[in-house]
Amino acid sequence: MTTHFVAHVDQIEEGKPIIIEVQGRSVGVYSINGEYYALHNYCPHAGAPICKGLVVGTALPSEVYEYEFGRLGEIVRCPWHGWEFEIKTGLALHDPNVRVKSYPVVVENGEIGVVF
Ligand code: FES
Repeated sequence: MTTHFVAHVDQIEEGKPIIIEVQGRSVGVYSINGEYYALHNYCPHAGAPICKGLVVGTALPSEVYEYEFGRLGEIVRCPWHGWEFEIKTGLALHDPNVRVKSYPVVVENGEIGVVF
């Protein structure tokens, strides 16, 4: 495993990931509440560049006829067919057996490193 330093923390705004190429892999790096996360830029459904999808929220569990929205900024919606994934884990919201590959992230002296 190698840490690939890809960006400075100042380069990544919440809701606006950067997409970088590292050793032949396309990776999206996200910021959520001052923490950083990295996802492989490949949707497990049909191969879309998932990290080009909108960063959104989602409907939360609620009572019948009540609609509650939350988790704004924690979900990425695939640009091709709309599947939604947790940015922090890569898990699909509709099926936790489906996931986008995620990578560990480290921050050292303000530099963001993706580990793989
Ligand atoms: S390719 Fe992502 S939902 Fe279909």
